[in-house]
Amino acid sequence: MTLQVAPSGRLSAEQVTAVLHSATLAPSTHNTQPWLFSVGPAGIELYADPDRTLPVSDPDRRELLLSCGAALFNLRTAIHAAGAHPVTTFFPRRGDPDLLALVKPRGAAATDRKLASLAAAIARRHTNRTPFTAKPVPAGAMGALRHAAEVEHAWLPRLDPDQLAGLKELIRESHRLQTADPAFLAEWRRWTGRGRGKRDGVPFAAGGAVTADDTWVLRDYGGGSRAPGAAPMVVVIGTFADLAIDRLRAGQAMQRVLLTATARGIDASFISQPVEVPAIRARLRELLGGGLWPQIVLRLGYGAPVPRTPRRALEDILVTPSPLSV
Ligand SMILES: Cc1cc2nc3c(=O)[nH]c(=O)nc-3n(C[C@H](O)[C@H](O)[C@H](O)COP(=O)(O)O)c2cc1C
Repeated sequence: MTLQVAPSGRLSAEQVTAVLHSATLAPSTHNTQPWLFSVGPAGIELYADPDRTLPVSDPDRRELLLSCGAALFNLRTAIHAAGAHPVTTFFPRRGDPDLLALVKPRGAAATDRKLASLAAAIARRHTNRTPFTAKPVPAGAMGALRHAAEVEHAWLPRLDPDQLAGLKELIRESHRLQTADPAFLAEWRRWTGRGRGKRDGVPFAAGGAVTADDTWVLRDYGGGSRAPGAAPMVVVIGTFADLAIDRLRAGQAMQRVLLTATARGIDASFISQPVEVPAIRARLRELLGGGLWPQIVLRLGYGAPVPRTPRRALEDILVTPSPLSV
């Protein structure tokens, strides 16, 4: 964002509109965009939108919190890039689990250059489901991705070949279980394959697919004809606890990892099957050593350009009638 904020950190209505727009570019399960915002003198409030849950694939709203965490990271990062500091309070109102965070922009001594470069990646990040080339993700980039997760209080462990093979099996199994469940398929159909004119859901052109075979979920999963060193390109982000706050943090970590990848020209897509099936998630936890709650699995590499997905209009995600200064 080019508009520099006042030394007090106060954001004009135009700046609030810009940072909210950045927040809405976050990824969300099936592009449900399960967030709402309220702007007032106390700051910008982020709410979970109770009308945009996925009762079959996300009954305990874990992925909803991940998605909202990603939006929160975008919001914080856009405020940083504008030259203010986003003072953030998680779950600020006792007894209101839908009010996830309050963000109050304050004066900042200097712009954080790293966050400014991540802010520049917000609009360029897209879920990339195309086949990835054999070019390996450089080891240095993997270190940066691990660091990105840790800065946001999550972990991206290095997986050994046995763990990667085990994860592959769990992906296959969870995919099989989900595609055998008519309720899961019905929910998936409600949100995907949408044509032009829709402001949510995964458009047909974005290439999501659920088929009974596992060619899609295991696409490019290491091994096979890949160059030596090309794997691992599948990573897991985990947290040490699994409360709502940990899930919200995991979403911020996921988004920081994704933007760090985008800034380095690395594409990513999600493999959420093994964390959406509770019994498989428990086995993945064991596979990781028993200390981490797996929150999301990502596929990283180099794909073909993909189209952007739609977003709801600002007036549809604002609890307050119009953006105000904060
Ligand atoms: C928590 C989470 C889980 C997701 N799981 C999957 C998945 O299993 N398969 C998939 O193709 N996309 C998955 N996505 C990607 C969303 O479909 C995508 O973010 C959304 O359609 C918006 O598109 P964009 O990421 O290109 O902005 C997931 C996203 C999030 C945040």
